[in-house]
Amino acid sequence: MSQRALRRSRLRRSALATAAALSVAAAVFAPAARAARPAAPAAPAAAPSAALAAPDIPVANVKAHLAQLQSIATANGGNRAHGKAGYKASIDYVKGKLDAAGFTTTLQSYTYSGATSWNLIADWPGGDASHVVMVGAHLDSVTAGPGINDDGSGSAGILEAALAVSRAALQPTKHLRFGWWGTEEAGMVGSKNYVNSLSSADRSKIEAYLNFDMIGSPNPGYFVYDDAAALDQLFQTYFSGLGVATEPETEGDGRSDHSPFKNAGIPVGGLFSGADYIKTSAQAAKWGGTSGQAFDRCYHQSCDTSANINDVALDRMSDAIAYALWTLGTGTTTPPTGTVFENTADVAVPDNGAAVTSSVTVTGRTGNAPAALAVGVDIKHTYRGDLVIDLVAPDGSTYRLKSSSSSDSADNVITTYTVNASSEVANGTWKLKVQDVAAQDTGYIDSWKLTF
Ligand code: TRP
Ligand code: ZN
Ligand code: CA
Repeated sequence: MSQRALRRSRLRRSALATAAALSVAAAVFAPAARAARPAAPAAPAAAPSAALAAPDIPVANVKAHLAQLQSIATANGGNRAHGKAGYKASIDYVKGKLDAAGFTTTLQSYTYSGATSWNLIADWPGGDASHVVMVGAHLDSVTAGPGINDDGSGSAGILEAALAVSRAALQPTKHLRFGWWGTEEAGMVGSKNYVNSLSSADRSKIEAYLNFDMIGSPNPGYFVYDDAAALDQLFQTYFSGLGVATEPETEGDGRSDHSPFKNAGIPVGGLFSGADYIKTSAQAAKWGGTSGQAFDRCYHQSCDTSANINDVALDRMSDAIAYALWTLGTGTTTPPTGTVFENTADVAVPDNGAAVTSSVTVTGRTGNAPAALAVGVDIKHTYRGDLVIDLVAPDGSTYRLKSSSSSDSADNVITTYTVNASSEVANGTWKLKVQDVAAQDTGYIDSWKLTF
């Protein structure tokens, strides 16, 4: 008998009794008393501090995207409509820009009227995933024309705002998401599909959806969606800073992709420079342009080309998108230090078996984890020398907390390790990884926690 086996045989009697008692306790109390408790950061101590200043979006860049969308339509039968090659080419163009800028892009496919189409979703990595700020625009045109104002303008505006987020290497407190919708022109098919695809939990994480459908109308108005007061106010504040009057958007709800979000209870906002309604003389007095004419005389027609754009409106509204993203998405407040993120669910550690993990999701932090991250571990085990314990950061980096040792015969690992985690992004899912590498003694992760 080896030294280790000798030690074991002496240990086993008391250890077995303890282990039996522990596993009964765990089995009896696990469902209710030990239910997984999602990490609950304490409420921020202070009111959010001022958001970072938004950049000026270069309208030339927005127009360059419009020129590309125009070329795509021209090369594909004159449109970018649902089910047509010009739509997929538009998706590929926008996705290529986003991928190169570091976004996580997803194509969500669906079928409508016998043709496959896609929504393009782009997530900017980071920010608090439980507080999502989303902006969107539809990328399809009608079949009659290239759809450069409707809605190349919104599509290009949010694309350039997304690229500005990347150029700024923005580290927003909230999570930023962008959506380009398919098949809006057949009744908001893409955005309805997207909203329906979300769990109710994921819907409730979207704090705001901002829609930009037609933001460069050639005879422009400055209409602000008046659904959610705070989002309405946000844009009014922006335009009053420019000295530009606004009016509430009155063409009626349900005419664009914000409506499925609104119907799901998500606060919506947005901007609109006008479609087929006629500009009044009062509107021409405050905004310039031509009274008695439609805001967009080429609405849903073949003449909705790259010539059908008012650069000043496009510039102001693109800047307003950036203003909204920066205002809603940034701010320097994080939860106070000493916030505990804990998982109290029991996880059995199989004897001499595969590693198991227990997760803790950290949210609401800005930037990286601390240089002295406290990792509190509570593992019940009848021979702690069997255990190898690691902390796994959200990106998969692994920090060894404890190695195995055939001479460490004590029970349990109940201690706090300090890890230099300063090269890791704080927000995300951290794991405690535990492996039992020797036969006979067993145990379980009772709980563990990270203190930020
Ligand atoms: N794409 C929309 C449509 O074809 C454009 C539109 C018209 C719109 N009226 C609106 C968008 C009012 C927002 C609000 O119907
Ligand atoms: Zn539209
Ligand atoms: Ca063992």
